[in-house]
Amino acid sequence: MNSQKVAPWKSILSNAMASSNSSKKEPIIGSLATVSSDGAPKVRSVVCRGFVGEDGLVATKSKEILSSNILAFSSHLQSPKISQIKNNPKAEILFWFPKTAQQFRISGVIDIFKFGESSPVLNLINVTDALYSPQNLDSGIDKPSAETENPILFDSQQLCTSSLEAHSEGLKKWFGGPPPGEALGTTSKSTAEKSNLDNIKANFCLLLLNPTRVDYCDLRSSPNKRIIYELNDVNQWRESNVVP
Ligand SMILES: Cc1cc2nc3c(=O)[nH]c(=O)nc-3n(C[C@H](O)[C@H](O)[C@H](O)COP(=O)(O)O)c2cc1C
Repeated sequence: MNSQKVAPWKSILSNAMASSNSSKKEPIIGSLATVSSDGAPKVRSVVCRGFVGEDGLVATKSKEILSSNILAFSSHLQSPKISQIKNNPKAEILFWFPKTAQQFRISGVIDIFKFGESSPVLNLINVTDALYSPQNLDSGIDKPSAETENPILFDSQQLCTSSLEAHSEGLKKWFGGPPPGEALGTTSKSTAEKSNLDNIKANFCLLLLNPTRVDYCDLRSSPNKRIIYELNDVNQWRESNVVP
């Protein structure tokens, strides 16, 4: 049985994100590493959309305010990273925040959520179990959503809809366009420009990263600090201080 709680690293990461973007206008960019079928690492920049349940990532049809430790990224279903994740869902996202001199290496598995599918592509993450109500935690009800009288029911379509809405019109067009990495001119210009909502929804996907290990390095403090957070078999986070 899951006993999901606020991860101990979460407020540190949220504060670092807030400090790096005090105007709330700049996206939070991370470097997402996946593994290709020949075992080679592949890394690219992605925008972090926030934590599922927060940051406009509405995860249920109810109006309840929710949170989770799951990080969300959006992508194009035909981009090479998707087949890499299907082949090997292990991934790591790196965030470096120069203003606060903090680095986070967050690893776990990624699952892929898309329009028209009520379950994730790989079925690796139980989002219903991962969602919690911050209000319940504040009032001391520290139970996973699945155990409460009114369990929170995760709705992946609601999540895809709310997330897509938060994208700029320019970015939406990217989802409706040809596969990233395809040679220019392969798809005819008229087809490439026909990025209607159906095309956009067909290619839009959310990558949800369920963290199981966080390697946090804090260069502000003297001496520098490095903490490894690991989720154990009974879903408890353990932390250890290591040499930076
Ligand atoms: C600043 C920046 C932000 C980006 N954000 C995303 C993103 O959120 N999602 C995404 O799929 N690609 C994003 N890209 C493009 C990727 O870095 C990459 O070029 C593209 O997704 C193809 O990656 P792949 O071949 O590994 O699948 C971004 C690129 C830059 C430079």
